[in-house]
Amino acid sequence: MTSHSEPRLAVVVVGASRGIGRAIAKVAARERNVVVLVARSAEGLAAAAVDVQKAGGEAFTLELDLLAADAPAHLEAFLTANDLVCGVLVNSAGYGLRGAATLLPVKDQIGIIDLNIRALTDMTLRFLPGMLARGRGGVINLGSVAGLIPGPYMALYYASKGFVHSFSDALHQEACRFGVTVTCVAPGPVSTEFLERSGANRAALFKILPKLDAEYVAERAWSGFKSGRRRVVPGISAKLITLVAAFLPTAAILPLIGRLQRRSKDPCPCGSGRNLKECCGSAPRHGASCRNSASRRDEGHL
Ligand SMILES: NC(=O)c1ccc[n+]([C@@H]2O[C@H](COP(=O)([O-])OP(=O)(O)OC[C@H]3O[C@@H](n4cnc5c(N)ncnc54)[C@H](OP(=O)(O)O)[C@@H]3O)[C@@H](O)[C@H]2O)c1
Repeated sequence: MTSHSEPRLAVVVVGASRGIGRAIAKVAARERNVVVLVARSAEGLAAAAVDVQKAGGEAFTLELDLLAADAPAHLEAFLTANDLVCGVLVNSAGYGLRGAATLLPVKDQIGIIDLNIRALTDMTLRFLPGMLARGRGGVINLGSVAGLIPGPYMALYYASKGFVHSFSDALHQEACRFGVTVTCVAPGPVSTEFLERSGANRAALFKILPKLDAEYVAERAWSGFKSGRRRVVPGISAKLITLVAAFLPTAAILPLIGRLQRRSKDPCPCGSGRNLKECCGSAPRHGASCRNSASRRDEGHL
């Protein structure tokens, strides 16, 4: 029998103020769950809380910047203070940046590691032991098809998602024996603010690929998680990309992704101050050398 003082189980959605996280919160709320919405934007959280209530759930909101090292501890304290425990954790907070890794601000790129990797890892390892002890619940981690391959001109983002895939798969294997699921969701492009904020939408790759709705991804993520699946790949194009990534050698994929993610208007990493088109010729092709760095190379390697 459940006593009144026993903490209630909550679905904790990190990155819930918009996009895929907000859509997953809404789907979880349909099952009358307590949903804890976490992100930085008070406005976005308030709107997400209305969604949750309308869908039949009970909403709590927590404004938190996950880039702060002590943020996961704050989240845990918030749950305790509200007599809640994390029954399901959804790690949807994440960002990416398009551009040459040597030109993008280092601090912002380290931030990708801090949010997409460190915070996700901290929260997963913080809440998973309780789930194992209860023998139910689990974690939904937002990966991406970008986690399957290296991504020139979005190097940190792709690498961070590679981590999410490997970490989630391994934990799933450890946890599934206890009735706990760790699901990694790996969509292709989704119509959210992520594409604009990361600058990805200006690259040819993201113009070519069809975009999924966040609501569709959320439905697939939640139903896949509930059926105990280790990996959810929503949509046909993401499934095709997954196949291609499995069969094409990295040596073939790298130049292709590089070509589709850089733009001739991008600054040239050689430091000339000119753009790629001016430095590297009419169209920055694979294998085409930057004139500036090539002339410097003629002077010797060091
Ligand atoms: N959209 C795509 O094409 C796509 C494709 C594959 C995978 N994904 C992955 O799916 C996840 C969700 O992406 P999305 O498309 O929903 O992106 P989004 O619309 O930009 O939403 C990102 C969410 O993360 C939160 N967030 C960002 N920085 C944060 C911080 N420092 N502290 C706390 N919360 C923070 C944002 O809220 P605040 O700004 O209010 O803090 C927002 O709620 C990400 O991990 C992304 O990598 C996206």
